Amino acid sequence: MSNVFVLDHPLIQHKLTYIRNKNTGTKEFRALVDEVSALMAFEITRDLPLEETTIETPVMEAKTKVLSGKKIGLVPILRAGLGMVDGILRLIPAAKVGHVGLYRDPETLKPVEYYIKLPSDIEERELIVIDPMLATGGSANDAIHSLKKRGATNIKLMCLIAAPEGVEVIQKEHPDVDIYLAALDDKLNEKGYIIPGLGDAGDRLFGTK
Ligand code: PRP
Ligand code: URA
Repeated sequence: MSNVFVLDHPLIQHKLTYIRNKNTGTKEFRALVDEVSALMAFEITRDLPLEETTIETPVMEAKTKVLSGKKIGLVPILRAGLGMVDGILRLIPAAKVGHVGLYRDPETLKPVEYYIKLPSDIEERELIVIDPMLATGGSANDAIHSLKKRGATNIKLMCLIAAPEGVEVIQKEHPDVDIYLAALDDKLNEKGYIIPGLGDAGDRLFGTK
């Protein structure tokens, strides 16, 4: 799985255990998803290009580095992706945020798109599609196709937990998209839930059922 990166930092793994625990309530769940998203953003931005600049420190002139101006766009998949946005924005506050609204039909498990609003210059941006769960892969696959149809060429996918089935779909349909995960779980159950997983991410984030 060459383009799949499982971010196994101890803090990410520790917090993910509490996220998975069914006894973790909405408030704590939301806070932990936010924290893990920030930690993942730290890892995912490792390859951002730098350029040299010259500044005056209080002591002397120094050649130092700044980001070379690569523009980033976050694209949360509604609704559960929203829970990851603020954590990432704490590290990349200038990122623009687009939204793709998709829900998974509970009968067919197929994604249904109901909303899309993106920054006007997505073709110039490195886009990070965010969703806590990559299950069958249908939602992320559709979202990425939608972005490519509108001109995006540089896309990463960031999820908390994935099933191998979903990873396979993205790898087949979008071999150009690197996938960043906090965990790669065992499989899907008969209802399309990731196991062991964390349950329904949207419901746990927003306290719905
Ligand atoms: C969940 C999750 C993903 C999708 C993953 O969303 O947040 O978007 O399911 O499943 P898939 O890989 O099989 O497509 P859901 O459809 O429950 O909508 P919600 O975020 O509005 O709760
Ligand atoms: N969507 C979720 O929220 N959880 C799963 O386990 C699968 C899809």
